[in-house]
Amino acid sequence: MCAKRVTTKPGEVPTTGHSWDGIEEYDNPMPRWWVWVFYATIVWAIGYSIAHPAWPMLTRATPGLLGSSTRADVAAEIKRFDDANATIKQALVDADLTTVSADPNLMSFAQNAGAAVFRTNCTTCHGSGANGVEGKGYPSLLDDDWLWGGDIENIHLTITHGIRNTTDEDARYSEMPKFGVDEILEKPQIDEVVEYVLKLSGQDHDATLALAGETVFVENCAACHMEDGSGDITQGAPKLSDAIWLYGGSREKIAETVTYARFGVMPNWNAILSEDEIRAVALYVHSRGGGQ
Ligand code: HEC
Ligand code: HEC
Repeated sequence: MCAKRVTTKPGEVPTTGHSWDGIEEYDNPMPRWWVWVFYATIVWAIGYSIAHPAWPMLTRATPGLLGSSTRADVAAEIKRFDDANATIKQALVDADLTTVSADPNLMSFAQNAGAAVFRTNCTTCHGSGANGVEGKGYPSLLDDDWLWGGDIENIHLTITHGIRNTTDEDARYSEMPKFGVDEILEKPQIDEVVEYVLKLSGQDHDATLALAGETVFVENCAACHMEDGSGDITQGAPKLSDAIWLYGGSREKIAETVTYARFGVMPNWNAILSEDEIRAVALYVHSRGGGQ
């Protein structure tokens, strides 16, 4: 191969002089239009990178002369939505919670806003369908079984202040004694009362033990769970006479609860959400669950 440019007669296209086994390379110039478009893109790129954020620097990119910022665009967009919703949000804050459902416009706003708040803040514990996580102490919010009351005002209060947290002194609070760990009951008494709870909830049980367990229950448990096991919403004491369990309804799980007790905690949402968001999610939960 030889790189010597070969000149030719007028009218004939010169070759570059490259030759591979007799195959030669023409030396055609680039088409004019292509060259101009190419220069134009270079000029455009320089202009663009001066006008807009472009070149990475140590901490951030060059800002650009036009001052455009996608961050500011997003903030403006959010503000535009907030402004558009300001009136209806205020209406929700001012409304009497028990009568919101009579206002279809306000109710549909609360439903949508509440669903969004729920997706972001509540699904981690209560599940994406609000059906809870059995065995972990995260209650389903869809059924008619309420620990702390299922009317809209109780739901609103529970969400606002949370449960057994240390960050809000108005939080719902109660504490089941650790009957085993603190030696309030002997092991045989625990076995008896567990059989009685199995009986209350309609499960297979040892009848003799359950009979003895009834006395233990009346003396130690009924103050919170009521004699018939129907529970007490003023103390957040769950109903024990149904098939709905926070921590599991098997013999082993019930014995574990009685021995060690449980201490379900929910944060106070007034520290994280605004009042209109709390109201929206309360109405959303109320309308989904067997809201009383
Ligand atoms: C960190 C986990 C966690 C998150 C997140 C959470 N919760 Fe809870 N929630 C709980 C626990 C635990 C309980 C039950 C506490 C108990 O045993 O009393 C509960 C109970 C409730 C109750 C009372 C149910 C009843 O039967 O009375 C409501 C209502 C509720 N949550 C709503 C919400 C809403 C709305 C959100 C989102 C804004 C939310 N929760 C987020 C853990 C959580
Ligand atoms: C001071 C009130 C109080 C007393 C007394 C009490 N409990 Fe409880 N119990 C509670 C509360 C509150 C919870 C819910 C615990 C939580 O979410 O952290 C609970 C939960 C339970 C649960 C779990 C229910 C579930 O859904 O998983 C069982 C079982 C139970 N108690 C049985 C008993 C038995 C048996 C006794 C008597 C030996 C007893 N409790 C005495 C307040 C009480």
